[in-house]
Amino acid sequence: MKNYSLPPFKIKMVEPIKLISKAEREKKLEQAGFNPFRLKSEDVFIDLLTDSGTGAMSHFQWGALMMGDEAYAGSRSFYRLEAAVKEITGYKYVIPAHQGRGAEQVALPNLIKRPGMYVISNIHFDTTRAHVELAGGRAIDCVCKECFDLELDYPFKGNFDLLKLKEIIADKKKENIAAIIMTITNNSAGGQPVSLENMREVNKIARENGIPVVIDGARYAENAYFIKLREKGYENKSVKDIAREQFDLADLFLMSSKKDGLVNIGGLIAIKDNEEMFRACQVRVIPMEGFPTYGGLSGRDMDALAVGLKEALEEDYLQYRLDEIRYLGDKLRAGGVPIQYPTGGHAVFVDCGAICPQIPFNQFPAQVICNELYLEGGIRAVEIGSLLLGRDPDTHENLRADKEFLRLTIPRRTYTLEHLNYVAECLIEVSKRGPKLKGLEFVYESPILRHFTAEFKPIK
Ligand code: F0G
Repeated sequence: MKNYSLPPFKIKMVEPIKLISKAEREKKLEQAGFNPFRLKSEDVFIDLLTDSGTGAMSHFQWGALMMGDEAYAGSRSFYRLEAAVKEITGYKYVIPAHQGRGAEQVALPNLIKRPGMYVISNIHFDTTRAHVELAGGRAIDCVCKECFDLELDYPFKGNFDLLKLKEIIADKKKENIAAIIMTITNNSAGGQPVSLENMREVNKIARENGIPVVIDGARYAENAYFIKLREKGYENKSVKDIAREQFDLADLFLMSSKKDGLVNIGGLIAIKDNEEMFRACQVRVIPMEGFPTYGGLSGRDMDALAVGLKEALEEDYLQYRLDEIRYLGDKLRAGGVPIQYPTGGHAVFVDCGAICPQIPFNQFPAQVICNELYLEGGIRAVEIGSLLLGRDPDTHENLRADKEFLRLTIPRRTYTLEHLNYVAECLIEVSKRGPKLKGLEFVYESPILRHFTAEFKPIK
């Protein structure tokens, strides 16, 4: 354990979990149409579906809940949250939202002023892409090529490809680009960090072309700690200062606070200084999320978030947080399981295309491994591959993802290293039978966001 830091907390409240029998797991998975999204959480032993809203709050946060001021307008809780966000970001305006996608639906249409405008991101998260498209825009991803070279030891695989960014702007014309969104860390491709140097270059290109810059910062604190660990010149800076440098390079901050806010529900919109943008967000937040001083949150939610935002910047916590992901990744690699390396901030991404190369992309190798992992150990993970990607809207053909990933997403402050050992053991077992496994075919497929509700049957 010498190479990994230990949890900087002790446990004083527990929630029992139970491993149901193998026979029961087989029955439950079949009833769920071979789609773990459709399982009841009581039938799951270790739930690694997401790190979103699934973490444990501290006793300071539980204490803060009691302070919640449940006022419709001008709640004390709002002003405590606003002060925390201003202190961290240095931004002038703060509007809460019920979660990340709430912040997106309020803010993004104010940037996408005409149908057909483009938004460029390293990689858009699914809901971000959906809100760009719902507002009439088009989303373009522009991540560096190192991102998909899984074994390459590269420190900032979430970086933008700067040459490609310039080419896209030249090609689409700057007046047609609504915004550049820096997703930190880059969730969709491994929770990989973006360097400050890269963010600075993106900001410079945006400035030269008069394009607003947005930070999609669900995991901005994890990104800041990666910078401290890996970027030259930042070894001795505090994470708080590094986070502030990140925010200095954008105009708008959208956050799903269910990650680095350390709460179970919540989101944020923060605006550096553009009063017109603030007014436009105020106008939209009222019919969509709620009055601008609560945005869909109760007073107690806002108080828990005000405390959680600060806890997520504590360096012993962040060190342990990134280490628990690295620990699971190292265990899996030592057992011969192919993963994205180095590991990112919130999850281990497993390369299921390499585990079962005989299963074609349109029979969903990562979903097959996801199901096997549930059968093996009652563990729920999530497919991030061709199933998630969906179909081409014009040709209706299945799109092929760059990689058939299984995401083992680790909730914050929730599972122990013993749980992670068990996860590694189970997945190592499953990967040994990878070459013998068969694919899946649809029994039901919804027209959009099919991965949530799809039902399958195994191909014989
Ligand atoms: N942006 C990023 C980078 C995200 O990872 C998420 C959510 C959102 C926006 C949307 O936030 O869920 O609060 O509405 N990611 C979760 C996940 C759902 O499992 O990766 P939300």
